[in-house]
Amino acid sequence: MKAIKKAVFPVAGMGTRFLPATKANPKEMLPVVDKPLIQYAAEEAVAAGIDTLIFVTGRNKRSIEDHFDTAYELERELEAKNKTEMLEVLRSILPSHVNCVFIRQSEALGLGHAVLCARPVVNDEPFAVILADDLINFSGKPCLKQMVELFDFQHCSILGTEPVPKSDVSSYGIVDGVEVKKGLMEVSGIVEKPAVDKAPSNVAVVGRYILTPKIFDLLENTQRGAGNEIQLTDAIAELLKEQRVLSYNFEGRRFDCGSKLGYLKAQVEFALEHKEVGEDFRAFLQTLDISAEDKVVPMKKPG
Ligand code: G1P
Repeated sequence: MKAIKKAVFPVAGMGTRFLPATKANPKEMLPVVDKPLIQYAAEEAVAAGIDTLIFVTGRNKRSIEDHFDTAYELERELEAKNKTEMLEVLRSILPSHVNCVFIRQSEALGLGHAVLCARPVVNDEPFAVILADDLINFSGKPCLKQMVELFDFQHCSILGTEPVPKSDVSSYGIVDGVEVKKGLMEVSGIVEKPAVDKAPSNVAVVGRYILTPKIFDLLENTQRGAGNEIQLTDAIAELLKEQRVLSYNFEGRRFDCGSKLGYLKAQVEFALEHKEVGEDFRAFLQTLDISAEDKVVPMKKPG
């Protein structure tokens, strides 16, 4: 089977959970410290050996295209002012061997439909899907690289998963199956956003998938499911009747940046680890008395 060289980024969603911030800006462009969510996702793909990034976009998403394009005027200005460091930051957003393709999803018919929109570019190759609002921090290997390495060995579809509290299962695709190794499961069933008492397990699919191209044939015939949308989960449920599908509990810390709380947690963790501001940010946090009940009060004047 061919190597994983293409990644699909479904970015057509409206981001209503972040209004008004996302009224005119895509949610994928919300920054965590100094990088937009979509750039973390693109970097994770590139680190996994991917060279073609396929963005499935919608209305109001122009800034994503601009972000991955050359900003001539800005570069000329930084050059003129000798701001070489900033210039380097701009130029290293993507390595030059990586190509971006933008496909428009004209109707918001769901994640499954978004993935199907990428078919003409993906063709008959296995490929990755990354949902940028699931931001995954890592200390060893980035999540998708772990999954690609597993794929190179197993040659089948792999779902990035994480055990979640039972009370949260209705927010995710939940898998059922048999553990073949610690954290690795042969998937025998998958259901989109089940009720707590109907969930087959607490192992949730997070926004990382490696899929064989067979999924496209199945998506063509997938009817609207949960939320009246064409669900990727439903097509995967069909896929596993024909092919082996594994679920893999990746190593790393995931932040649900589609929710305000998850996004705030990501900001804090990434800010604390940031080379430029991490130390000062830590010092600032230490000045806060977060045990105060009504509001956060400074314990002492920040230096
Ligand atoms: C989507 C998928 C769901 C998956 C989740 C991960 O749901 O449909 O199966 O568990 O992403 O973030 P969404 O969060 O878009 O509703």
